[in-house]
Amino acid sequence: MDKSKSVAVVGAQWGDEGKGKVIDYLASKADIVARFQGGNNAGHTVVYGANIFKLHHVPSGILNAGTLCLLGNGMVVDPLVLVEELFELEKRGIDTSKLYISGKAHLNMAYHKDLDEANEELLGEKKIGTTGRGIGPAYADKVMRRGIRAVDMTGFERFRERLADILPLQNRILKEIYNHKGYDLDELFELYCPALERLGPLVTDGSLLLIENLTAGKKVLFEGAQGALLDIDHGTYPYVTSSSTVAAAAATGNGVGPQHISQVLGVIKAYTTRVGEGPFPTEDRSEAGEQLRERGNEFGTTTGRPRRCGWFDSVIARYAAMVNGLTGLAVTKLDVLSGMDTVNMAVAYSCSGAETNNFPGSIEELKECTPVYETYSGWDEDISRVRRFQDLPAAARHFLKALEENVGVKIELVSVGPDRSQTITCQDSSLESWIVP
Ligand code: GDP
Ligand code: IMO
Ligand code: MG
Repeated sequence: MDKSKSVAVVGAQWGDEGKGKVIDYLASKADIVARFQGGNNAGHTVVYGANIFKLHHVPSGILNAGTLCLLGNGMVVDPLVLVEELFELEKRGIDTSKLYISGKAHLNMAYHKDLDEANEELLGEKKIGTTGRGIGPAYADKVMRRGIRAVDMTGFERFRERLADILPLQNRILKEIYNHKGYDLDELFELYCPALERLGPLVTDGSLLLIENLTAGKKVLFEGAQGALLDIDHGTYPYVTSSSTVAAAAATGNGVGPQHISQVLGVIKAYTTRVGEGPFPTEDRSEAGEQLRERGNEFGTTTGRPRRCGWFDSVIARYAAMVNGLTGLAVTKLDVLSGMDTVNMAVAYSCSGAETNNFPGSIEELKECTPVYETYSGWDEDISRVRRFQDLPAAARHFLKALEENVGVKIELVSVGPDRSQTITCQDSSLESWIVP
């Protein structure tokens, strides 16, 4: 096995950092792109020329003909949505024949979405602000050992039996706790039959598929969804998603050993955004935040919600570097900062009168923290056509160098626009073997 052949690409903030763009950029040299967690709560945008693709389950390598794509065992897959996603891709001429689903991935069912919505409603003002896609309840059922897995889609009888075992309890929960009318077994089974037909043949042993390819020297990209601060353990709990979003999950979420992940690329915006509820120290509710939202077109890919915006936060970035073991950074959306008079960067937090460089362990503590900013000169130039680091305006280079120093991780890539081509590979990047010259 050649250890240099696999890279995990993970979000290093609260999601929407531009993971889809970065994966697509690297995917032309990838043999396999494998997702390892989350489901259709993710919205990964890929742009090349006039083509814009918004992917929810399907790995962002799918646009690269010849790249094999895998939905790993750590994911929760909504069969009805996935069928639609594949149909839409095919309609646009994308070959989806190389997509596989790990048999051990769990299914995100219609009742999970109902439970997600009902749960948020019950929480009222304390709601998480989920994407409403059923993600939390689907993972809860996995852990409660009453999930349906992708392998159950390989036989109609098998699927019906599993559903018959599970539905009575789901119906009791829906009816007695959430005042929902529940589901009829026959109707629900019928609803899923076309998906079983379409997706059943794609189910495989994901772990075996990956190991065989890795052993043969193939290059694998592990595609993360969400981001470090949304991680179920390490994020701003309870305002998090329900899966492990950090790089180590690329191993468990695909059934390969951790030695197969040789590099961990953290994708990070040159500022910060968050969708949904929960603490966000550098959130800027004034004009600067509004400017970032407008210029960065910060509206959710999945739900269309306006994203909360604020300055770059080195404290969360250092924390993301620590919990992921980041070996490199891909800084995205630098172009969005063009035209700002000055640009701020949080370098520490002030918490109850004391300054700290470390991210607090609970949101109660975090709520007491205010960012300590350093202010940098802005730049006016349109940088969207720049393709070499040295051609960036001096002020932009200075900002990136400070960011690199504050986070303590080397910047490998800089993104200056949504298009695949609008990407700068930094000098001596350890990703060079992934980049098409
Ligand atoms: P993901 O969930 O991490 O894949 O990110 P999203 O796709 O949800 O959100 C990132 C958005 O920013 C998408 O609309 C991308 O097309 C866009 N984007 C990515 N990189 C850049 C960049 O460098 N500059 C600009 N202006 N937009 C970018
Ligand atoms: P990508 O992969 C940004 C957020 C939701 C909510 C919390 C829990 O595109 O970066 P969930 O539906 O997962 O139970 O919601 O997590 N969230 C995301 N925010 N990008 C995402 O994915 C997200 N997926 C979930 O807004 O705050
Ligand atoms: Mg997104």
